[in-house]
Amino acid sequence: MRTHPCGVITRDQLDATVSFCGWVHRRRDHGGVIFIDLRDHTGLVQVVFDPDREETFARAEEVRNEFVLRITGKVRTRPEGTINPDMTTGEIEVLGYELEILNRAATPPFQLDDTNVSEENRLRYRYIDMRRPEMQEKLRLRARVVRQLRHALEDDGFIEVDTPMLTRATPEGARDYLVPSRNHPGEFYALPQSPQLFKQLLMMGGIDRYYQVARCFRDEDLRADRQPEFSQLDIEMSFVDEDTIMSSMESMMKSLFKDVLNVDLGGDANTPFPRMSYEEAMNVYGSDKPDLRIPLVLTEISDLVADVDFKVFAEPAKNPKGKVAAMRVPGGNSLTRKEIDVLTEFVGRYGAKGLAYIKCNDIAAGVDGLQSPIVKFFPAEVLSAVIERTGAQDGDLIFFGADKASVVEAALGALRVEVGNKMGMVEEGWRPLWVVDFPMFEHDEREDRWQAIHHPFTAPTAATTDEWQAELDADPGKCLSRAYDMVLNGTEVGGGSIRIHNTDMQQKALDVLGIDEAEANDKFGFLLDALKYGAPPHGGIAFGLDRLVMLMTGAESIRDVMAFPKTQSASCLLTSAPSVVSDQQLKDLHLRTRAKAAAKATDA
Ligand code: AMO
Ligand code: AMP
Repeated sequence: MRTHPCGVITRDQLDATVSFCGWVHRRRDHGGVIFIDLRDHTGLVQVVFDPDREETFARAEEVRNEFVLRITGKVRTRPEGTINPDMTTGEIEVLGYELEILNRAATPPFQLDDTNVSEENRLRYRYIDMRRPEMQEKLRLRARVVRQLRHALEDDGFIEVDTPMLTRATPEGARDYLVPSRNHPGEFYALPQSPQLFKQLLMMGGIDRYYQVARCFRDEDLRADRQPEFSQLDIEMSFVDEDTIMSSMESMMKSLFKDVLNVDLGGDANTPFPRMSYEEAMNVYGSDKPDLRIPLVLTEISDLVADVDFKVFAEPAKNPKGKVAAMRVPGGNSLTRKEIDVLTEFVGRYGAKGLAYIKCNDIAAGVDGLQSPIVKFFPAEVLSAVIERTGAQDGDLIFFGADKASVVEAALGALRVEVGNKMGMVEEGWRPLWVVDFPMFEHDEREDRWQAIHHPFTAPTAATTDEWQAELDADPGKCLSRAYDMVLNGTEVGGGSIRIHNTDMQQKALDVLGIDEAEANDKFGFLLDALKYGAPPHGGIAFGLDRLVMLMTGAESIRDVMAFPKTQSASCLLTSAPSVVSDQQLKDLHLRTRAKAAAKATDA
């Protein structure tokens, strides 16, 4: 139907007769001539119709925005003064000879270049929204990323293997999406939260190096970087340790960024990504996914304030589970009372009971040079020790958090990102790192039981010694794991681990989680069995593909890099899923619902 896409026609085609198809972006009537900007995924081209060609002109008069056209015409240079240097096609225009209306369009619900369209409307009419160049770019970049990753892995000896979608629940920690079985009344499949157990079984099956662009399903609370249905680049390797996995994943990422964005991720090819222990990440950045572009750090000061006459600080400072930490904000003196109030409210969302601060007006002047609601509680030597340790200078502000260590880290960690962004401190560029030495387990206070931080199949660090059993018995809270996360600009883009490949160790790890042998056999019997029949040492990782593309395209939300995403409440505005089903369908599935579906509210 066409000789060229719209957006590539240039002086090279001067005087040639060309045909192209696309959507009417704009139509302008100018004293007897009609201009149409025709658009396809490559861009716009300007077409001129003059009244000499009567029939064609009459049809051009009829067209409206988003009509689908096929146009044939002759390429000519634009008249002096109408050249647009910002467009590839900006030096030429096409004199339209023929115009075929391939399809008409109702008035679109929004204009494509309107930047104020609600997300609800964009998602409901995604097929129109997707015509915008921004969406086109993101989806095309996504495809390039996937193609590039596939090539890199295939070249490296990985093969792609599909794993089932209708499966048993896998324990990645979120709620499962369930699918009722018609053949087995009362039984359910689960959609995979990840292919974790299958990829381990593939290693036991001798596949050696596996990858898959895998769809995962997790019924959890959604945020800007979470979707109920998302894609992982899932990877598993046999006969490797964490160094081999981390370094090969690094090279893969470096070449991806080089090829797609022409960026040297983390420096040149030979510079490894920095590695940081979980402990350091939490202490210094208050987060296990630190954004290293923000030049603010937390400094523990528990030892300095343990004896001050201010209970709010002294108590957590003395409590082994408590902590007092400070964060110096260079130039933070400029924050107003009102701004500090807003930040106090902000940290409240992370459980902080307040946000003490000191404004350093004139440090040399002693207490008189400090402006703060708390300095009155502190002896001069404590104040100067705090100032020295944080490195504060005149003009700075120091924030404080005092509470359970977990609350202080969460609150100041979030504050660090908030202040860094608000005060324009985020440095340009890409700051990847590995976070390693995660604890194996965390204690769930509410349910009073241990939970796996990564997942129950991750090997303990002690796995390489004879001590693993003793360590797991002594204090699960102190055990470290062979897990690693790849973090990029404050987002966890991937996570993985070396796995347990020994039946006893696997059973022991499940024991700690309160899963006894009977339950373990019921839930993971197939894995425990497989471990008995010659399981190679193995490990792997999974990258959140959507998150990675979100970062690479600079998108604000993961929804912008998915063709058909779901809303915060996990609905699809385009198809109105989820939806009620017929009584007959329910009957076939041996189901009865208790909830009457609420009248569908709109939710964006
Ligand atoms: P994990 O649960 O850390 O590990 O997931 C791996 C990566 O997937 C991405 N991700 C998500 N992206 C979008 N929406 C979500 N709801 C979502 N949840 C996770 C993140 C994350 O880093 N089986 C293990 C991997 C392994 O051990 O090999 C796993 O799934 O970027
Ligand atoms: P108060 O004694 O409650 O008036 O608090 C004095 C200052 O300490 C105020 O600026 C509070 O915001 C701050 N503050 C109170 N509790 C905490 C806490 N747990 N961590 C940090 N600052 C706090």
